[in-house]
Amino acid sequence: MKIAELKDVYYKYPDGTEALKGISLAVNDREVLCMFGPNGAGKSTVLLMLDALIFPQKGTVRLFGSEVDPKNASELRKKIGLLFQNPDDMLFNPTVLEEVSFGLISRGWRERKPREKLRKSSRKWD
Ligand SMILES: Nc1ncnc2c1ncn2[C@@H]1O[C@H](COP(=O)(O)OP(=O)(O)OP(=O)(O)O)[C@@H](O)[C@H]1O
Ligand SMILES: [Mg+2]
Repeated sequence: MKIAELKDVYYKYPDGTEALKGISLAVNDREVLCMFGPNGAGKSTVLLMLDALIFPQKGTVRLFGSEVDPKNASELRKKIGLLFQNPDDMLFNPTVLEEVSFGLISRGWRERKPREKLRKSSRKWD
């Protein structure tokens, strides 16, 4: 089963940089895919697209069988984990508890719930 598919995808950043010009790829369930290429080739841009954080100007992106668009992106994103190249882009809270709560809270959990849940998972908090 294909979990991700890019078909003839084009992407231009707002400043006009053409990062992807007609990229196609498919990722199957349980498959490990390694992408390599020179700096600026477009690897990170493909990953942003596979996390439904950016959308192609031309071509299609399908995740878990659904064609991605800004309306279903946040729902699809719940099933995807993305580690950024630069850790400073991901770690920005003053404490570990706030850091690991951030994702749950931004998904609409009320603040008390993730904190309680995380406290229960370790006696070392606070
Ligand atoms: N936010 C941005 N705004 C404008 N252009 C960008 C942006 N991010 C990347 N680019 C440009 O898009 C192209 C593809 O960049 P991308 O970061 O996807 O490459 P990469 O293969 O991940 O490179 P690296 O190996 O350095 O991580 C490059 O020309 C880059 O300069
Ligand atoms: Mg990169």
